[in-house]
Formats: sequence, structure tokens, C-alpha cells
Amino acid sequence: MASRLSKTNFLGLARPTPARTRTRVPCSHTIHSAPRHTPPRKLRPTATASVRTARVAPLSLLVGGGLIASFFALAQHSEDIGFDDHRRPESLGSTDDRNPSLPRFRIADVRQHGSTSANPWVIFEDKVYDITDWVAAHPGGDVILRAAGGSIEPYWDIFSIHKSAHVREILEQYKIGYVDVADLVNGRPAAEAIEDPFEKDPIRDPRLVTHTLKPRNAEPPKEEIDREFKTPNELFYVRNHMWVPVVEETKAEEHTLEIELPDGETRRYTLAELKTKFPTHRVTAVLQCSGNRRSDMTRNAGKTNGLQWGAGAISNAEWEGVRLADVLADAGLKVADATAVTRNGKADESNPDANSLHVQFSGLEAYASSIPLPKAIDPRGDVLLAFGMNGQPLPRDHGFPLRAVVPGTVAARSVKWLSKIVVADEESTSQWQRRDYKSFGPNVGANPDWDRAPATQEMPVTSAITGVWVGDCVRKGKVPWKVAKEVPGEPVAVQGYAYSGGGRDIARVDVSLDGGKTWDQAELVDDCAKPGSCFGNKQWSWKRWRYVGQLALPTPRDGDAKPCTTVVVKATDDGYNSQPETHSSIYNVRGNLPTAWHRIRVCPSCATGPGTTGKTWTTGEVSGCGFANGAPGK
Ligand code: MTE
Repeated sequence: MASRLSKTNFLGLARPTPARTRTRVPCSHTIHSAPRHTPPRKLRPTATASVRTARVAPLSLLVGGGLIASFFALAQHSEDIGFDDHRRPESLGSTDDRNPSLPRFRIADVRQHGSTSANPWVIFEDKVYDITDWVAAHPGGDVILRAAGGSIEPYWDIFSIHKSAHVREILEQYKIGYVDVADLVNGRPAAEAIEDPFEKDPIRDPRLVTHTLKPRNAEPPKEEIDREFKTPNELFYVRNHMWVPVVEETKAEEHTLEIELPDGETRRYTLAELKTKFPTHRVTAVLQCSGNRRSDMTRNAGKTNGLQWGAGAISNAEWEGVRLADVLADAGLKVADATAVTRNGKADESNPDANSLHVQFSGLEAYASSIPLPKAIDPRGDVLLAFGMNGQPLPRDHGFPLRAVVPGTVAARSVKWLSKIVVADEESTSQWQRRDYKSFGPNVGANPDWDRAPATQEMPVTSAITGVWVGDCVRKGKVPWKVAKEVPGEPVAVQGYAYSGGGRDIARVDVSLDGGKTWDQAELVDDCAKPGSCFGNKQWSWKRWRYVGQLALPTPRDGDAKPCTTVVVKATDDGYNSQPETHSSIYNVRGNLPTAWHRIRVCPSCATGPGTTGKTWTTGEVSGCGFANGAPGK
């Protein structure tokens, strides 16, 4: 078989690759990182960010493993491709006025150059590009290979940063010809000839509130967010950056996880081996996206980039799997016990210090992120390689057949479709580790110094209101839980969830019915009271809470159409961490960690009937009967 570095003409005949000058184009989007495959890794003492940055090579920003920089490194070879005369445009008639010196390819020809071909090609608009050299030079470029043999555009729709003149310029260098006019409709390949990367995504529950379809990002409707302590699998929020990889059910047990240790040694486990070799553990844990409640921050503090989640980018489940710590130990990972000293009184330096290491996770589709090793091997940390969710195999959207579950930590680290783990002396080099999931001071604008902020790991305390019922709705039993006490005047019933990261329990949930002037405490639901209902060493689940009180509406001021009040909630965890009062005090343009007090404005006189269903929960919308159209809480 021809080597990756050899070239073929369009008839598929291999011919030697001429020497080329590789061009590197500077790119402001470059993330600095070590190359993905550099074993054996030589460990160094704990590196500072600047030291790390100084010793690393550029990694592309694109499609997780690196397209932009990869294209930088592609050789120019459009000039040296041979082609048959019968492919010349002259033979195609006057409809084709594109550069006559380049060949035309049928889409069927391009398909021959798919991901398993020695010479992968891609189509962009009506042009054909040979990405052979790029793939050879960049083993991290698996994602572009998905596009090989077809159009790259659906992938650039996912990673829209590619849609820039700069990237097009780079791509232009690798053009080898055009798509034959016979395969063009209005100058572009026919829609049906273009592969949809999301074609094989699973069918989802129609109740989910969709933020984006491709990739799928969705949250439960507000009345379902915490209806149950363990979120039903089909209503668990979905956060996908790309397509859902296909692993046949019948082949799931053969799914392989590769583990690479700091010394470069690798070990592979099939899912079947993981299940039989290690004890199974169950952990009841929340996953929460760092953008949960982002729409609240946008509404109250200013524009934020990213999916405008309501309060439903959080769900709770019982996960089943094997402990990452057990698997790493079996794979041969040895770390120094920082407290151990040898007989001559010196620190034991025979193994690397766990504090200097990170566990990098990669998914089948190219997503990647990492956690510090101490969390991974903490015997009370409950980090799982999970294959079960609420007593079922993992659903495809949630990582089938294997995912990491890192309780108490931002869900961005719970990598789905897990296929590779690398224990290394630096964090994952992906943009999801080095960029997206970070937060900055409210004074920092749209171009923060990403390297100065730590990647989000443990989550801060948060809470949200998921239902408010007033007056007759309470009196006539429309509240989905038993209202135990009689309230004179206008009764109000409120429910919601509270959660803190790091395994910290919720100590208290404060509710205010007058915009934060006076406070009372909500009742915490003891969902873990029943033996066997919660698993894990720490409080990884959320606490659901309920509150019943008397609503005292202010008299409408002159000009006010109706009397309104604002119901507010804030939680305090067992470390006495509490939520900030305002979103403006924690505003960041990425809209990450929007944990300010949650406010719902309630205007009983505008009550018209049952609450809206199927909408995301946002400040100002009141679920349940009575108050569907409250105004945003202030
Ligand atoms: N893992 C892979 N492979 N691909 C992804 O897009 N998204 C991450 C994380 N793991 C992601 C991933 C993010 S940002 C979140 S919030 C959680 O998965 C969401 O998990 P869920 O979809 O099961 O709720």
C-alpha cells in the first residue's frame, strides 16, 4: 500500500511525493501545548504555567485535535498533481469556467479517498483538497479524517471558527482540483451528496428543550428538572460538542480503553475486561454544565457567549462503573507518597509526585479534558469509569459504552465515549481545558488572558427555583408535593434544587418572598434517607428543597399595572460558601459559573391559568398553575 506521504493522481496511482516547503502561518488562536504523542514523557518538577507554555509546541484550535495549525503544516501541492486530459474543463463544455489548469473530480472519485485511504481528500465548496501530508504530520487530526472522502463544510459548521478568510487562505494551498460540474447543483455538491455528521445521532425525548440540534444540546423542561431525585435518563440534559460516535451494541464489550502512563507505557482494557477485572461501584452524582443558568447572567448582567441554558443544565443520576483509581493502579501507575521519607531521611523521589500529574481523558469523537491526578486517585473521590446510568447501560447521548464520571467537578471533565486516558505532567491540551471552561473578573472584556485563569474543576455552590404556586393553586392541591402547613392569606409554595461541588453538602437554603429583604429557610428533602438510595463517599447529589409561606404583595405604586414581588433563593454549603447576590458581580463574557441568587418575579394579578410547559426555566417564568408570565426578577 502506498505510504501516507506518497501521492496519487486522481486515478489513484501512487507516485513519489516531491520535496516541499512546509509553511507555518502564525495564528492568534493557537493553543500552546505539548504534542499529543510524546512518549516516553520525561517528568519535571511541578511546572508553572509559563514554563509549560515555553516548552510546548503549537496545537491547532480546530476540531479538538487540531486543524488550523495542521493546515499550517500542510505542504503546498496543488501544482504538482497530475491529471488526465479527459478531466480538463474544456472537455466539459462551456458551463465550467473555473481554472482550466486544474483537474475535475467526480464525487465518486473523492469518496475513494476516505478516512481509511492512504491519500485522504476533502471537498470545500466546489473544490477538492488533498490532506495527505497534513494527516501524516498530525496524528491528532482524526477529526478531519471524518470529513475525508466528502465535504468538510458540515464539520466547519460545527467549528465555525474555520469560516474565516484566514483559514480559507490556508486551505487554498492544498487545492488539487474541482468537483466535476456533473456533480454540482447551483455550483455546489448536491445536498444529498454531503454527509451529515449527525445522521446517526440517537432519537431524543421530545420533551427535552433543544438549544441546538446539531450538535445536540438540550435540557429538561422546567417542570421536569427536579421532579425526581434521580433524573430519568431520557430527560437528563445533553451537552454534545460534536456528533454522537457510533458503537454497535453488539460490539460494546470490545470497546477499548487505552491508558498511557507517565513513562510512556501503555495498557489496554476492553469494556468486558473492565467489568470483570475490577469491582463495580455505584455513585449517585450530579453532572452540571459550567453554563447552567447562563441565560440568567445574560439577562441580568450583559451579553454572554455560549448556549443560553436555563436552570436545567444540571441533572442527577446513579452511575455504575469501576473506580478509575483501581484501573490506574492495575495499569501500573506509581506515584510518590509525598509524606513518605526514605531511611536516610530524604523524600522518596523514586516515583513522580501525584500533585504534578493530570489525568487526560479523550472521547471517540475528539473531545478531551483533564482532572488533576489527586482527584482521580482519591479513595474518597469516587471517580468512575462508568458504563451504567440509573440501572441501564449508558444511553448513547451520555457516553455509551464508557464515560468518565467525576463527581463534584464541572461536567466538562466527565468525558463521554471514553477511549483514551493519558497520565501526564500537564493538563489536557484541548480548548475545552485551556479555554472554554474558565471564568474571569467582571472588568475583563472579550479577550481574556486564558492562561492566567485556572481551568474550572470543583463547582461552586448554586441553587435554582423550579416551581412557584400561589393562592388557589396551593389551596386546591395543584402543587406536586404535599403542602403540610396551612397558610393564612395568599399562600405560596416554592420548590427547587441546591448543589455544591467538591462533595460539599448543602447546609441551608434561604428563601425570600420580598426580593431579598427578609428571609426564611426552606425544608431540605432527605432523598438519601432510604437505605440504598444514594451511593458514594461524599455528597455528590443535589438537595431538593421546598418552601411554603405567605405572599405579601406590595400595593401597586402609581403607574404600576399590578402588584408584584420577587421570590429569591440562595444556598449555603457546609463550608459556609454562599451564592453571590448579583450576576454583575461575577459577570464574565463566557457566562461561566452564573451562580447568583435565583430570582422569580411573581405578579398574581396577571395569573391566567396553567403555566407554560416545554420551555426552559428562566428568571421571571413561573411554572405550575397560576403564573406563567411573570416578569424577569430584579
Ligand atoms: N465528552 C465528550 N466526549 N464530548 C462532549 O461533547 N461534553 C462535556 C462532557 N463530556 C462532552 C463530553 C460537557 S461540556 C458536559 S456539560 C457533559 O459532558 C455533559 O454530559 P451529558 O451530556 O451526559 O449531560
